[in-house]
Amino acid sequence: MKRRVAILISGRGSNMAALIDAARAPDFPAEIVVVISNRADAQGLQRAGASDIPTIVIESKPFGKDRAGFEAMLQQALDEKGVELICLGGFMRLFTSEFVQRWYGKMLNIHPSLLPSFPGLDPHGQALAAGVKISGATVHFVIPETDAGPIVMQGAVAVADDDTSETLSERILGIEHRIYPEALRLLAGGRLQLAGDLCRVSGAADRDGTLIAPATN
Ligand code: GAR
Repeated sequence: MKRRVAILISGRGSNMAALIDAARAPDFPAEIVVVISNRADAQGLQRAGASDIPTIVIESKPFGKDRAGFEAMLQQALDEKGVELICLGGFMRLFTSEFVQRWYGKMLNIHPSLLPSFPGLDPHGQALAAGVKISGATVHFVIPETDAGPIVMQGAVAVADDDTSETLSERILGIEHRIYPEALRLLAGGRLQLAGDLCRVSGAADRDGTLIAPATN
């Protein structure tokens, strides 16, 4: 039985599209049953609709600081669709710790840095300002703290001296689109175990993934 997944978005939805594409494969252990946006103008809604995935808009703005009120509507929508797992894809709304607890171990997020470095806003600018030579993206389980939680998968890219936030974010986005479907495959396939603050993966391939940057002659 495929696990029933909701993707929550606020904007462009390119990670959403990567997850939808991956879930089309017959052997993928999850199906995307709904895309939910907290903004009616999220570009991703059209992309989801074009892929014949049901979409729901629950505007969060009218709720203001009433996070629990918004989450009650969200939970109702998730229940109605029989959702078992949640993927956040650029979902720009903080949750209450109650909601996070309820979905602990079942809700993933992606962030465009190698966490725990550079959480929060403008991670690409933060990486460039820090002068790191390697950056990347992280899929993690969601906990009440923003852009933190047990790390499921990371992908890395070299950072060049002439990178800008735009060039770096574009390169990292390519990595995001590769690792998010793989992380969901592991979760839906029952291959992740939480051990305290850590996430362990069963059956991971033993591969040398060394990345040294800058490359020198
Ligand atoms: C992605 O780069 C994602 O990693 C980031 O928002 C972007 C959404 O793009 N998420 C965060 O920064 C979370 N703190 P998308 O809508 O095209 O997937």
